[in-house]
Amino acid sequence: MSRQEDDDHLANRLALRSVAAYVAHEINHPLGTIANLASLLSRRINAPIIRPSELASEINSIKLETRRAAEVVKNLRVLAGGLHGHRELVDVPALLREAVSRLRRRYGKDAVITRIECHHFPLRVQAVPDLLHIALYNLLINGVEAVKSVSTDRPRLILRARETADHWVVIDVIDNGPGVAEPIKRQVFEPFVSDKAGGSGLGLAICRDVIEWHRGVLSYVDLVGRGGACFRIKLPED
Ligand SMILES: Nc1ncnc2c1ncn2[C@@H]1O[C@H](COP(=O)(O)OP(=O)(O)OP(=O)(O)O)[C@@H](O)[C@H]1O
Ligand SMILES: [Mg+2]
Repeated sequence: MSRQEDDDHLANRLALRSVAAYVAHEINHPLGTIANLASLLSRRINAPIIRPSELASEINSIKLETRRAAEVVKNLRVLAGGLHGHRELVDVPALLREAVSRLRRRYGKDAVITRIECHHFPLRVQAVPDLLHIALYNLLINGVEAVKSVSTDRPRLILRARETADHWVVIDVIDNGPGVAEPIKRQVFEPFVSDKAGGSGLGLAICRDVIEWHRGVLSYVDLVGRGGACFRIKLPED
């Protein structure tokens, strides 16, 4: 094998690894929720009184999560650079509501207080909606994991969306957890950087790829003196 062939082979292997890591990471979200819902269903089925409406809601959630798993695979080639991806006009508040509903299906609706704040209407971006959802959902999961890692009286997540005078749409995901730990602040978007037991450190790296793919910017904003974390998505206005 020539030097060039060696290099190409290595590049392909690295690309394959990152694609495999993306799928493994993202498919785990719907799989985890489906497993939870399935055990909830089997408990309900054995209960003395069965409420069809409750069963129907859980079955519907399983269907929605299955669709999300299929989207991960479908969007794989977009992120990996092989496809352009179908951009469309995405309504930002609707995108936020959908991500919050999904979070509630996963953790239960009372686990964390979640508030959406958006005073600009309409607020839209040109994007691949399923990809933006993936980025947002990773930020929300990190937020929930952060607030659950400390004993906060009122664990809280705020999703704040607005447009700026210079034509950006900004979405802040703010939590009242401990904030990003000082030693990893600088590398927090790098792959495999994690301080969680069992964390792969891929969530934020995938978010950054998704946002940059949309010609946007993902950053961490220090909430000086106020604790908590704020991750900021900036996307060009439609
Ligand atoms: N909202 C947050 N508050 C505090 N720290 C955070 C927050 N979000 C991310 N971090 C820090 O950034 C690290 C990297 O996050 P990332 O989502 O990439 O990986 P992870 O959550 O550790 O693992 P995975 O997403 O693969 O389950 C986390 O381990 C955590 O230390
Ligand atoms: Mg994460």
